[in-house]
Amino acid sequence: MSEQVKENCAPLQHLAVIMDGNGRWAKKQGLPRIAGHQQGVQTVVKVVDECLQVGIRYLSLFAFSSENWGRPQQEVDALMELLLQFLASQRQKMLDGSIRLRVIGDRSRLSASVRRALTEAEADTAGGSALTMVLALSYGGRDEILRAAKQLAEKVSAGLDLQTVDDDLFAQFLDTQGIPEPDLLIRTSGEKRISNFLLWQVAYAELYFTDVLWPDFDAQELHRALEDYRQRKRRFGLTDDQLMTSGSDLSEGESH
Ligand code: IPE
Ligand code: IPE
Ligand code: MG
Repeated sequence: MSEQVKENCAPLQHLAVIMDGNGRWAKKQGLPRIAGHQQGVQTVVKVVDECLQVGIRYLSLFAFSSENWGRPQQEVDALMELLLQFLASQRQKMLDGSIRLRVIGDRSRLSASVRRALTEAEADTAGGSALTMVLALSYGGRDEILRAAKQLAEKVSAGLDLQTVDDDLFAQFLDTQGIPEPDLLIRTSGEKRISNFLLWQVAYAELYFTDVLWPDFDAQELHRALEDYRQRKRRFGLTDDQLMTSGSDLSEGESH
């Protein structure tokens, strides 16, 4: 039975993570929230290493949402500072590990110095082919879909035939253009919601929720999630019989 389930489960090429619980982790230790974010960065480093080890090709990390701009300015500033430190400290490692950075989200709200650092890091790592790390910064799923719809509307008024607009064409206007859809979405910290992450892209992602707070998440927890994923049966709207007769082709074909 479990072998059959394994056969029906598409290989995991894209893992997406809502890294939540930094603040509660810090509170539990009697530390300021930013200490939780600092510890959370250490978890990112560990998870990236493990993804490289197991051959995951895309790792999307929700690092800062459009709604997170509403947090106290001190926390927002500290998060941006941590981001800059992260980019500087991981640069060589990303080059050595053939890791490519891609940033999604509304960059116009980021400061000029953060934008510059991101553009540089993306350019420096553009040749990376082992793992693409997709950092969602100033990112909101609705905002991304709206921006895509506006771009598309411009194309239509410039002459694009509306009848030709389908899922695939629409997806080309999203920030994630060219990136396969996530196979598995993990959210830490016990919250069971999407919080505006990759709304279009997670249509058929498997969802995995754990109570573990992000700073406590590690390789072992990741493997727990991956094992859970392997037991899932992805149907993509089809019947079991259809999946049986076409083997794993259907689920794999629909995974991106
Ligand atoms: C996730 O941890 C990191 C960001 C949203 C930047 P939180 O900061 O949301 O931590 P909690 O949810 O308050 O514990
Ligand atoms: C989602 O976490 C955003 C990130 C992990 C960056 P939040 O902590 O902002 O989400 P809510 O407010 O609990 O839904
Ligand atoms: Mg949170």
